[in-house]
Formats: sequence, C-alpha cells, structure tokens
Amino acid sequence: MIKIAVFASGGGSNLQALIDAQDAGLFKGKIALIFSNVPESGAMERGENERIESVAIASKEYPGSREAYDAEVLRLCESKKIDLICLAGYMRILTPVLIKPFLYKMMNVHPGLLPKFGGEGMYGHHVHEAVIKAKEKESGATVHFVTEGVDAGPIILQGNVKVQLNDTPETLAERVLKVEHQIYPEAVRLFCEGKIKVVDNRVRILN
Ligand code: GAR
Repeated sequence: MIKIAVFASGGGSNLQALIDAQDAGLFKGKIALIFSNVPESGAMERGENERIESVAIASKEYPGSREAYDAEVLRLCESKKIDLICLAGYMRILTPVLIKPFLYKMMNVHPGLLPKFGGEGMYGHHVHEAVIKAKEKESGATVHFVTEGVDAGPIILQGNVKVQLNDTPETLAERVLKVEHQIYPEAVRLFCEGKIKVVDNRVRILN
C-alpha cells in the first residue's frame, strides 16, 4: 500500500478531493499524513475531522533556513515511511533537501496549463488573472512531478476549461478547481498502480 502525504497551506479542497477518492476506493493508497506550514489552515481542520495524522510547522515563525525547515519535513516523511507527497495548494517553494529524495515521488497541482503561466509568483489567483489578461481562450489544470525548477517538472495529466468572455479570476478559478479535483486523484491512481514512468524527464503512462 502506497503511503501518501498531502501538503497544503490553504483551504484544502484538493486535499478533500483526494480524501474522498481514497474513501471511494479510486486508488490503492493511504493518506497517512497531512502536513501544513500554516497551523490555522483549513487543511489542518479537515485532517483532524477525518482523523488523519495532521502536522503543522509554522513557516512564518520558523527560526532556521528554508533548508533546515525542509530537513525537518523530510525527517517527518521518512519517519512515516511516506512513498508519495502530493502538494495541494502548498504555497512554499521547496529546496533540493526535500525535492531530491522525493524526485518523481512528489506531485503538484497547478491551476493553469503548464508550461504556460508557471514559475515563481504564478500561483493561485495570479495565474487566473494572467490568463484573462492574456485573453487566452483556454485554461485548465496540470498535475506534474516536482523538480528543482518551479513548475517545471514532467507533466502527468492536464485538463482543459474554456475561458468565457465574462470570466473573472474567481469564476475561472472555480471551474479550474473542478478539473483539479478530477485529475489529481486520477494521477495518484496511476502512481499507485505503477503506471507512471519517467524517461528523459518526460512522463510515459503505461497501459
Ligand atoms: C489550487 O487551485 C492549486 O492549484 C493552487 O492553489 C489552489 C489550492 O486550493 N496551487 C498553486 O497555485 C501552486 N502553484 P485548495 O487549497 O482548495 O486545494
């Protein structure tokens, strides 16, 4: 059984989608840990309601470096024998301290069609604002593996939505979020079934 940790900083609707998918038996994995850098986040509350071990380390008050913080998180994941980390609205740039040991074992969901509208500063509503400003006809969501470049890792799954003329960042975010909730559990299912292979930094989905 694949042991999963979900990292979230905010509301945690993707976290909830993953919990619901697990409960519905969509994937053969177990969410064994919920981690947040924001102790008062909705994600922590959801985790506690679901009786899943939930740990927060407040990044705001953390006295050490980013690397020291990530080393603590790594120790936590190793102590729980985590096989897969799912970033679900985890609003913190990770260091190689955590990325390297979890290379191709850590996924992220992004609210846009990467490689467009990704990179530093492109998160949450910033992505939707940029998409509307650029008059894009389509947007969507991407699940990808986390590598050292921000939002640059190999893409696992994407889903599209049409951008409407009267869309605001909020209305677009709402529709994109629905896509995220579909493709993230599906990507986890593929991982748990050993169907994702990475060759030359590209994902191949096996039948
Ligand atoms: C989601 O839209 C996710 O794609 C985005 O934050 C939101 C979290 O929502 N993540 C990023 O922008 C990371 N670059 P949630 O807390 O309801 O799952």
